[in-house]
Amino acid sequence: MNKRRRIYEGKAKVLYEGPEPGTLIQHFKDDATAFNAKKHALIEGKGVLNNRISEYVFTKLGEIGVPTHFIKRLNMREQLIREVEIVPLEVVVRNVAAGSLATRLGLEEGTQLPRSIIEFYYKKDELNDPMVSEEHITAFGWATPQEIDEIMQLALRINDFLVGLFLGIGIRLVDFKVEFGRFYDNEQVRIVLADEISPDCCRLWDAQSGDKLDKDRFRRDLGGVLEAYQEVARRLGVLTETPRPRGAGPVLVASNASSNGPVAPVNGKPN
Ligand code: TMP
Ligand code: ASP
Repeated sequence: MNKRRRIYEGKAKVLYEGPEPGTLIQHFKDDATAFNAKKHALIEGKGVLNNRISEYVFTKLGEIGVPTHFIKRLNMREQLIREVEIVPLEVVVRNVAAGSLATRLGLEEGTQLPRSIIEFYYKKDELNDPMVSEEHITAFGWATPQEIDEIMQLALRINDFLVGLFLGIGIRLVDFKVEFGRFYDNEQVRIVLADEISPDCCRLWDAQSGDKLDKDRFRRDLGGVLEAYQEVARRLGVLTETPRPRGAGPVLVASNASSNGPVAPVNGKPN
């Protein structure tokens, strides 16, 4: 296991060579970064939670016919995936004004958008992932017009499905970022969903209280990052709660990788 060839290391994940040609192992780290890695911390147990949450979401999307790179979860931190050629775009879908859109257009955070909006950002850390238009994407050959169409259709299908999935567990899906890859299947090239879907790359607000259950807790120094991710995992049913003293908060029992012990509930409020 230690001799595995490392193919790529990103801010929150590492890709290793897989057991068979055309496969890779995606390893989820505990690193959290923001503002193009200017801010960095280790959130112990985050990788385990994101592995589980992303497995769940990718599996559900696969079940409704969204092609993905996901094959299976291997262990607490790793999943087996198909090797794809990543399209160098961060595709953001927004339902509610927040983050950079709210800042750019002077909208109040929380304003429902007239319809879902898709934005493209060029994946280039050195340039701080600048926002780009379809004109840039096709002119510079990052994706063809047909691929952009396919990506937009998939992004909207993913959004429709995830809005419902999260609403069912009392969470408002404000926005999220996804990445796509080209999967070379004999003569055919197919666009598939790649990377991950987790609270690292979504804005998830509690539908009633508006509490943030995502990486904005880290970006904005709100505290309770791990607890928020645990809450999402618990509501999705990928964590089970054992009866514990009142006020002790949720605990991770689906893993042996958690050394966090008892944790405070989100926002320090007893649940
Ligand atoms: P933004 O409002 O900062 O542009 O973020 C939009 C969505 O994309 C939000 O759900 C967070 C996610 N995101 C990432 O996953 N990675 C990033 O590098 C950035 C900037 C945002
Ligand atoms: N993932 C990005 C980074 O470090 C930023 C973010 O998610 O806000 O740089």
